[in-house]
Amino acid sequence: MSRRIAITGAGGLVGSALCRHLAAAGFAVNALARRPVAAAPGITPFACDLPGTIDPTSLAGCAAVIHAAYHTRGGRSPEARRTNEEGTRALLAAARRAGIERFIFVSSISAQPDAPSYYAQSKLALESELDSARDLAVRPGLVLGHGGLFERMAKTVRRSRFVPVIGSGRQPVQTIHIDDLAEAFISALERQITGRLTVAEPEAITMRSLIRMIGEAVGRRPVTVPMPPGLTLAATRLAERLGIPLSVSSDNLQGLLVIRAVDCRADLERLGLNPRPASQSVRELLCPA
Ligand SMILES: NC(=O)c1ccc[n+]([C@@H]2O[C@H](COP(=O)([O-])OP(=O)(O)OC[C@H]3O[C@@H](n4cnc5c(N)ncnc54)[C@H](OP(=O)(O)O)[C@@H]3O)[C@@H](O)[C@H]2O)c1
Repeated sequence: MSRRIAITGAGGLVGSALCRHLAAAGFAVNALARRPVAAAPGITPFACDLPGTIDPTSLAGCAAVIHAAYHTRGGRSPEARRTNEEGTRALLAAARRAGIERFIFVSSISAQPDAPSYYAQSKLALESELDSARDLAVRPGLVLGHGGLFERMAKTVRRSRFVPVIGSGRQPVQTIHIDDLAEAFISALERQITGRLTVAEPEAITMRSLIRMIGEAVGRRPVTVPMPPGLTLAATRLAERLGIPLSVSSDNLQGLLVIRAVDCRADLERLGLNPRPASQSVRELLCPA
């Protein structure tokens, strides 16, 4: 099997970590990003702007494509639909044309049939376009790393004593440390796993306890402020219409309101992965030794 892997979204939280970890594990990485990333040992940058710009040479000779590029915060906007729906289909077709054996789609733990958000629905719909005999959909939990929602939450806890939570704040959250997620992809490649995998800590915690863990790690005692779900959703939608930037979108909120814990023990066993619990990830990321 070729050890060359193409990774989209190579400038993002997940994509950049995958590039680093796969290169360190001896894979040759073609890093596809809108703004090409810096070249590094084992990493060759390519420009890629979905759905239109996919350089065929960026896919040539690859054993797999890992598709991590996604418009994650735009709800059902035309730009999100172009990137996510048209973009994923264009990339999948280009990968098939290039004779690439496996397409690995970075989906989400939220991709459940009854989830109302565009984000979850679009992930689920795109998963169904894969060939489960050769491809793989990886559904990560909330990724804990230097970026994304977790970093925005840590910033809020550092800045302010009062942290808003939706409803009771007892929604179940299953996290995954970015390094454990990268190990999951390496294991899936080495073991040639196909179909679908959920990659997250098996025990859910609550949103409130995640905020408390962040507070402990940064030396603060955050007070969570329950926000009424209906009103918060309406206010967020209004802010979006007015173009006011927010750290979570109404689509994110809709997803959060119905989130459920997922049993992923069998998937972790298939991967041979024992991910660290949220408390350890938070400590390691926010108070490194
Ligand atoms: N972070 C999490 O907690 C989490 C959890 C579950 C699943 N996921 C999934 O993991 C994947 C990566 O997410 P992330 O957290 O790494 O988000 P991210 O940091 O926002 O990365 C997404 C990447 O996609 C790229 N992108 C957006 N539109 C594009 C386009 N039209 N053409 C090419 N590239 C485009 C972005 O490029 P620019 O840098 O140029 O904007 C960015 O580098 C996504 O599929 C997401 O749904 C993430």
